[in-house]
Amino acid sequence: MDIVSFNSLSSGNLIILLVVITMICYFILEQLHYFWWKRSSKLPGPSFTLPFLGSIIEMVKNPYQFWEKQRLLDPQGVSANFLVGRITLFVTDSALVRAILNNNSARTFLLALHPSARLILGKNNIAFMHGQEHKELRKSFLSLFTRKALGVYLTLQETSIKSHLQKWIQLSKENDEMEMSFLCRDLNLETSQYVFAGPYIGEQRDQFCHWYITVTKAFISAPVFLPGTNLWKAYFARKKIVALLENAVIQSKKYIGNGGTPRCLLDFWTQRVLEEMEEATQQDKEMPSYSNNRKMAETLMDFLFASQDASTASLTWTLALMSDYPDVLKKVQEEQKRLRPNNEPLSFELVESMTYTRQVVKEILRYRPPAVMVPQNAMGSVPLTENVTVPKGSFVMPSIWSSCMQGFPDAYKFDPDRMSPERQEDIKYRQNFLTFGIGPHVCVGREYAINNLIAFLALISTECKFQRYRTKKSDDIIYLPTIYPGDCLMKFV
Ligand code: HEM
Repeated sequence: MDIVSFNSLSSGNLIILLVVITMICYFILEQLHYFWWKRSSKLPGPSFTLPFLGSIIEMVKNPYQFWEKQRLLDPQGVSANFLVGRITLFVTDSALVRAILNNNSARTFLLALHPSARLILGKNNIAFMHGQEHKELRKSFLSLFTRKALGVYLTLQETSIKSHLQKWIQLSKENDEMEMSFLCRDLNLETSQYVFAGPYIGEQRDQFCHWYITVTKAFISAPVFLPGTNLWKAYFARKKIVALLENAVIQSKKYIGNGGTPRCLLDFWTQRVLEEMEEATQQDKEMPSYSNNRKMAETLMDFLFASQDASTASLTWTLALMSDYPDVLKKVQEEQKRLRPNNEPLSFELVESMTYTRQVVKEILRYRPPAVMVPQNAMGSVPLTENVTVPKGSFVMPSIWSSCMQGFPDAYKFDPDRMSPERQEDIKYRQNFLTFGIGPHVCVGREYAINNLIAFLALISTECKFQRYRTKKSDDIIYLPTIYPGDCLMKFV
């Protein structure tokens, strides 16, 4: 541009021009930074990508294909890419996945969910916590998943599953084949409500479900916080859920304080928290940070969220895989008929004795781990391998899927017998079997989640018959953001 035309620009246009030039320079520097870092780290991955956007369009179009392509760049290691202005490392090596998940701190890696996750889930969500406060909170959950507590939950789980199976049979009479992922979501939402805060939600159950679905929609929406947007609606729906749960906490404290027997997860937690509060009073110490009603309600809300998506995906995979592998389903049925000849109600001991059904559930969780990645923000510059230092501010994607496919012989085959007492691959390759994560944030509800799937599989094998209708999409895998079958269309009788 010559000086005469530059001078003839109005001050408004001049500002726009300067902004554009600055942005172009920034994008060029950003790409050069990525290029040099990738070269010095000797990592496979695209050398240049679209300015700022990077490969995000390709990723959003078909996440499964995108990450699978990325995985194949280095199936047992690390590869690079660039997403929305950030260097992104895709980590497939199981030992590195473990190292990242074990290394949670404000100076290394912290969970990265949706860009607006803190607005949607609240800034105090357990998944964003770290250090001593997080450790103490986790310790207070010890009483939530004992044999006794899991036994109480199983009765509630059974009631909920049975009533939904009846509903599915009825719906099948009135409709064509039904997409099961939505129905599994409703089932799981009801089960977790009953189990977590059952007696305290009462009449507001439907409202609760509506608010909950509003919040989850924000996770697959643009991060725009303006009136009318999904994020806006989610923010206010979350507030309503927390208010409802705060009321549940008040009632539970009253009930347990008066010597009541725990009837749900909240009651078991309240019992423990009240004991800790009593101890603190006696020793003249500060009350635990999580013991006030609001904080307890927020934590309960974290449980509801953490439990929902992955469990729904696993229920859907259970239906899909049991239709696709009728021989496996037949063996489950045989075990169930032997252990529950008169459809005896489920108990902790009964579920514990379901060796084959448990094997199948474990293999479903390994073969289709619903949370395929646990994305992290690099909070500092962190050495990862001899050549690779993770730059501060980058995204790190430890791949649980890749880890679950390492070590296990013929890993891409669905083979429940690998989890049998004879082969014990779940124990032999436990380091790679990371469906529930590992380290300080390892899934709190893993025993509960496994029991829930065992109860579901046990009941669908004896209470009904179902048939899957296959389409061209049935064998696809979709990210929502946990993984689901392309479709799971079914009829029940
Ligand atoms: C099939 C079902 C489930 C799967 C596959 C699953 C998987 C996971 C994974 C991968 C993580 C992150 C672990 C890490 O960062 O290393 C996690 C965290 C968590 N899960 Fe689960 N989960 C499931 C069900 C549940 C259920 C039913 C509950 C509640 C009862 C639950 C509660 C939580 C909580 C509270 C966290 C956060 C823990 C923390 O940050 O300290 N999950 N889960």
